[in-house]
Amino acid sequence: MAKKLNILIFPDPRLRKVAEKVTKFDKCLEKLANDMLDTMYEANGIGLAATQVDKHIRLVVMDLSEERNEPRIFVNPEYEVLDGHNLFEFEEGCLSIPGFNETIARPDKIRLIWQNLSGETLEDTPEGILTVCIQHEIDHLDGKLMVDYVSALKRDRIRSKLLKDFKRN
Ligand code: NI
Repeated sequence: MAKKLNILIFPDPRLRKVAEKVTKFDKCLEKLANDMLDTMYEANGIGLAATQVDKHIRLVVMDLSEERNEPRIFVNPEYEVLDGHNLFEFEEGCLSIPGFNETIARPDKIRLIWQNLSGETLEDTPEGILTVCIQHEIDHLDGKLMVDYVSALKRDRIRSKLLKDFKRN
């Protein structure tokens, strides 16, 4: 089992960095993706963006299966909203904001384009939870967080709570 990576916790400023496009599809990329999957499974998450482990490249891992045996890897993922009127509401959580869930409405008709670890381009029009999950993860790559969708008051409360809880680390 690969070594568990350290997950950055909000309001760590490194979570605000914008990730760079992946251009080298090598062993290093594969190793990082596998380390991220191990880290995500250990933390009981369903998705993890490289930004969250302080690696600022456009890489996302995910597993939406009940059995936790369907790892997915998205390199350079991007999406286009096909229908901005149809929103899908889902109670989201985030490994960088432990203990908080927020119901967020996001477009539920998107076209998703990404590359695999070999650099091949893939495309899908996902349904259900993948649709919102990938938008959440792409937000991370752009330095955006779930708390940006809530009121400033609530965001401040979450910030204070997490600063207090994680001060001793
Ligand atoms: Ni997250």
